[in-house]
Amino acid sequence: MRLYEWLDSRLRLKPIRETLLDEPIPGGASWIYVFGSATLFLFGLQAITGMFLALYYAPTPDHAYDSIQFIEKEITFGSFVRGLHHWGASIMVVMIGLHMLQTFLYGAYKPPRELMWMVGVILLFITLVFAFTGYLLPWDQNAYWATQVGINMVGGVPVVGDFLVRVLRGGESLGALTLSRFFAVHVLFLPAVLIAGIVLHLFILRRVGPAGPWSDERAKLGSETFAPRQVYMDAVVMLALFMVVAALALTVPFDLADKANPSDTTFVPVPEWYFLFYYQLLKYVHGPFEPLVTWILPAAFILVVFFWPFIDRNPARNPAQRRTTMLAGSAFLMVVFGLLGLSLRDLYAVPRLDPSVAHGKAVYVQYGCAGCHVIHGEGGAVGPDLSYVADARPDREWHYRHFQDPQAMVPGSIMPSFPLTERELHDLTSYMLSLTQGR
Ligand code: HEC
Repeated sequence: MRLYEWLDSRLRLKPIRETLLDEPIPGGASWIYVFGSATLFLFGLQAITGMFLALYYAPTPDHAYDSIQFIEKEITFGSFVRGLHHWGASIMVVMIGLHMLQTFLYGAYKPPRELMWMVGVILLFITLVFAFTGYLLPWDQNAYWATQVGINMVGGVPVVGDFLVRVLRGGESLGALTLSRFFAVHVLFLPAVLIAGIVLHLFILRRVGPAGPWSDERAKLGSETFAPRQVYMDAVVMLALFMVVAALALTVPFDLADKANPSDTTFVPVPEWYFLFYYQLLKYVHGPFEPLVTWILPAAFILVVFFWPFIDRNPARNPAQRRTTMLAGSAFLMVVFGLLGLSLRDLYAVPRLDPSVAHGKAVYVQYGCAGCHVIHGEGGAVGPDLSYVADARPDREWHYRHFQDPQAMVPGSIMPSFPLTERELHDLTSYMLSLTQGR
């Protein structure tokens, strides 16, 4: 306290504190107003975890993938920080969604708050560009091919498409220039633009004030300052969110796919879940209607959302008096979640290849096992056919010991023992155990 008095006498802090915390909230503090500051908190978390990841990340095709593996395996707390950054991004998108939903439901975008809504929509799109550019950085197969899909879509936009593709890629193909460009945009350009946008968003908020409840009677009950109750609610939510993100980072692994291989055009990438609904939509539309979903619909959607306060001219804020708007909003949410559901169902119908199995397959090729073994009709017939080897030998331990010393397990075996690393041994065995008839 003495220190505070001392600093205050030099820097005159009290007026600043008062301006920051004395903002009146019509109708009083509420848990429903926490989503904006929750989003801001998550952005701060992204910024900090991002700075630490940048200490080790190398934005070149030769090193990006290895540098992420180094972060995951060698750095103290490396995989935790990467997990926070990964899940923080997801939860941030969720919080933005809830923040917009609350604004929409409460009609808080209506005059005089149109500008605040429009800046908010720009912030949403900056966040999505953050997600898109960040997705490429690990330089694994998913990153590479999902970005390829995104860039191809941009290429379909008439007139400016080719130009935009060149700007995005930085060259003739998706490569080193694209990666350094995405990295620079992700860590330098976007944070600058986003921070400027947040400042503007908050500046407008302070000029027009929070919207408060939709009913005038409740608003007339009196207002309450931002501190202490709203500050307390915001802080509780921030702490809870941090615990959720940390729990996800610690418990849900998200392994890298194989390193990006530009010549493997058979790879089918899966985007982040918040792009899945759109990815699903793309699957349904082909041929002459394709431009409709690749750019006409998204462009129209962006314009409608951006200018929404001017499209919805109904002055009422109470949802009960805004039938059409509520109907339009629910229809939109139903389509998005319906598509998301269909997409998830498709994804889990085909179990995705476990990365360990995929790597084991690569090891199998690398050591020339196919010289002696047949799998599904391919390879030599010196050793037994391995197409369904897991049915006969489902025991992981047996494979470990057999790979380390074939003769110890099968006396007289002519199978050589290979100088496998721990990881190769593990993944090769995973691959062997995936070879069953039961799938
Ligand atoms: C020189 C030929 C040869 C090569 C190369 C070879 N194997 Fe074998 N493999 C054999 C023979 C012969 C057997 C049968 C005797 C035994 O089980 O050791 C066998 C057995 C196996 C079995 C047990 C099959 C069963 O049903 O009992 C597995 C699994 C296996 N090999 C996997 C591999 C893998 C993986 C590689 C590559 C790292 C490999 N082999 C390379 C010759 C070979």
